Amino acid sequence: MTISIPLRSVAAWMLLLPLLVACSHPLEIVGDGDILSSTGQNDCLLEDQPCDNYVVGDYDVLFAAEPREGWRFIGWEGCGSQFPICSINVPAAIVKEFWGEVAPPLRAEFQLWPTLAEAANQANLEVGAAVGSTFFSSNDVQLNAATQYTSITAENAMKWASLAPTPNTYNFNQADQLVNFANANGQRVRGHTLFWHRLNGPPSWLQAELAAANDPAMHLEQLMAAHTSAVVSRYAGQIEQWDVVNEPFATFTGDFDTDSIFYQYLGEKFIEIALLQAHATDPSAALFINETGVVYLPRKFDALLALAQNLLDEGAPLHGIGIQGHYLFLKPNKAVLVDMLQRVGALGLKVEITELDIPLPLFSEEPDPLAAQAQSYADVFSACLEVIACTGVTMWGINDSDTWLDSFEFTVANAPNRPLLFDESLQPKPAFYSVLEILLAEDGL
Ligand code: XIL
Repeated sequence: MTISIPLRSVAAWMLLLPLLVACSHPLEIVGDGDILSSTGQNDCLLEDQPCDNYVVGDYDVLFAAEPREGWRFIGWEGCGSQFPICSINVPAAIVKEFWGEVAPPLRAEFQLWPTLAEAANQANLEVGAAVGSTFFSSNDVQLNAATQYTSITAENAMKWASLAPTPNTYNFNQADQLVNFANANGQRVRGHTLFWHRLNGPPSWLQAELAAANDPAMHLEQLMAAHTSAVVSRYAGQIEQWDVVNEPFATFTGDFDTDSIFYQYLGEKFIEIALLQAHATDPSAALFINETGVVYLPRKFDALLALAQNLLDEGAPLHGIGIQGHYLFLKPNKAVLVDMLQRVGALGLKVEITELDIPLPLFSEEPDPLAAQAQSYADVFSACLEVIACTGVTMWGINDSDTWLDSFEFTVANAPNRPLLFDESLQPKPAFYSVLEILLAEDGL
């Protein structure tokens, strides 16, 4: 690669060419740092000065300096978009046209990126992440969690099975750590989740204990009350939103999940029971039902809204709907999502995207899959920003090396799914920048 130095004659250019190949142009921050430009001597293309004229030829302009940490390259003024190389062609016609006239200098533009949390505050939106096992073992993940989000969710640590591995005993170590961490960093906590019957939701002892009870329905109600009182009261005033009931419907339909141990013993009224117990324990917490699959199953979403409406009609303390946002099978559709969010809002409820991940394999046919994924992230965030009732978006994980999708039955075959904002090395992906841009474009009013 060569460094371009426009000269007044092609002959002189030829003479100097061998010397120029080894040259480099350091970048300097100009003004408040928005613009970096080269300081190459005698280089009117690269100086912050106009050129008298161009010399015919192809130029590869190479900047030696890397953008500093916290900076990202926005683009070149006057040529391509690759950093650190700017390839320009100066054809004879241009030389003729500009001969003796003033031509513009080349400039490289950089931008200092704010954190997601700073942008989220500006947009008046909660932007969160679920933190899992790597959070507890990695300082780098903790630094990311502390700086990039306004809201934190426990990926697993607050599930009933995690908190109460054996009957009547609680281990709050990790949950406490998380709440203390969020408090120390001025972050909101979403409580996830009190009652979930799938995967690692229910404690392993629950089934046997109910099977042995004289009145299993009453016993379950008592166990739920005891669990709520142990957990919700411990964090009363510190957990702003609770996913009280997680995934009440069957995976692919709008019917209640008959595999749910709660539904089996108590019927659908387990939901109202759980909401009433949680509300009595912490009246300040916003209580949510959180559901999966609704972004690509319209009838399941209808059923969820009908359930919410019934509960409200009965006066149940339901305050919000969580739309999980695991885009396992379909790319996000902004118009569909806006409509869904508005329909929740029309019930007088808050709505959040609570578990967003968008697998990269969805975009494998695209020329630039990472850019297409970035656009999808932008679509989800801008949908939420368009709807007043939508108060937050939470990613289900921090970076691509720790995503539940790489072991989940429906997505394990596609691993690595790379569905998050930061890559395996915790570096921001194009999706990170697209979310930032969407947030920064908001005035937060
Ligand atoms: C997942 C976790 O990410 C995994 O680590 C765990 O093994 C299983 O649960 N819907 C939910 C979340 O509400 O609690 C699930 O989290 C993902 C699907």
